[in-house]
Amino acid sequence: MVSRSEMYRQSVEILRRNDIPDSGFDAMCIFQNVFGERNPMFLPQENVSEEHEEQIRGMIKRRSEGEPLQYILGEWDFWNCTFKVGEGVLIPRPDTETLIEDVLKICRRKNLRMPKIADLCSGSGCIAITLKKEIPTAEVYALELSEQAMGYLKWNSKLNGAEINIIAADVLDNRTAEKFRELDIIVTNPPYLTASEMNELQPEVRREPYMALFGGNDGLDFYRRLAPLWRDSLKKGGSFCCEFGMGQHDAVKQILHENHFINIEFSKDAGGIIRTAKAEMEE
Ligand SMILES: C[S@@+](CC[C@H](N)C(=O)[O-])C[C@H]1O[C@@H](n2cnc3c(N)ncnc32)[C@H](O)[C@@H]1O
Repeated sequence: MVSRSEMYRQSVEILRRNDIPDSGFDAMCIFQNVFGERNPMFLPQENVSEEHEEQIRGMIKRRSEGEPLQYILGEWDFWNCTFKVGEGVLIPRPDTETLIEDVLKICRRKNLRMPKIADLCSGSGCIAITLKKEIPTAEVYALELSEQAMGYLKWNSKLNGAEINIIAADVLDNRTAEKFRELDIIVTNPPYLTASEMNELQPEVRREPYMALFGGNDGLDFYRRLAPLWRDSLKKGGSFCCEFGMGQHDAVKQILHENHFINIEFSKDAGGIIRTAKAEMEE
């Protein structure tokens, strides 16, 4: 039998030897997950059962081989909800919480009590589900093309008790956009990595789905196609909110401007990077 503290020391050592950054944090998350306790090291001398030892060793091995921590844990927090994640779905990022703040600000500013919102490229559903939890009277649509991501989207809406309308669809197809009219808000975190960024991905990010990441040669394909395709789905004065990559703000602003959006404003993420834009349809 091995004690928790000895098992923790060995786990951190294995991760460190395999060049996993934040090895202490990752090992602690795995311990919390296996023991189902917030502070498993409160009992450092407690013996680890064979079953738990086997689970921990398996998870540490997967992490050492470069699998994202979030896929190994099977879930990750975003805003104040927990989302199931795994192979085939993008892991929710804290940067995307900026989009949630943008939408909530718009609803407050315009006094929208029952906003009709479409989340394009919904993935795990972190945006659509969080918005529904924050504004229970909202009518929320979540659109996603990947079958694998769709499984997580349905699962997450059920687990979080969020009654949203989940739609399997290609958001770049005009027949999809045509079905939506009089939306108050379109929100989207589309794939936006450039071809050169795709070649320099960290090993963990390489495990995430290509179709969730790649946004064309210059990363801007989705903005170029979504802006003209979806503008008529908005009410007059309706808002388009999108996330983009570092340094893409001027190009996204130009695309929105060319598609007759007005009042374009940026927001920064917690790291101070210009991360989102919100724009309005002319009245
Ligand atoms: C950057 S991820 C964002 C996921 C989620 N909204 C989030 O913020 O974590 C982009 C998502 O767009 C989906 N996607 C890519 N092309 C699409 C298309 N043509 N139609 C609908 N969804 C698409 C991907 O499968 C992926 O789930």
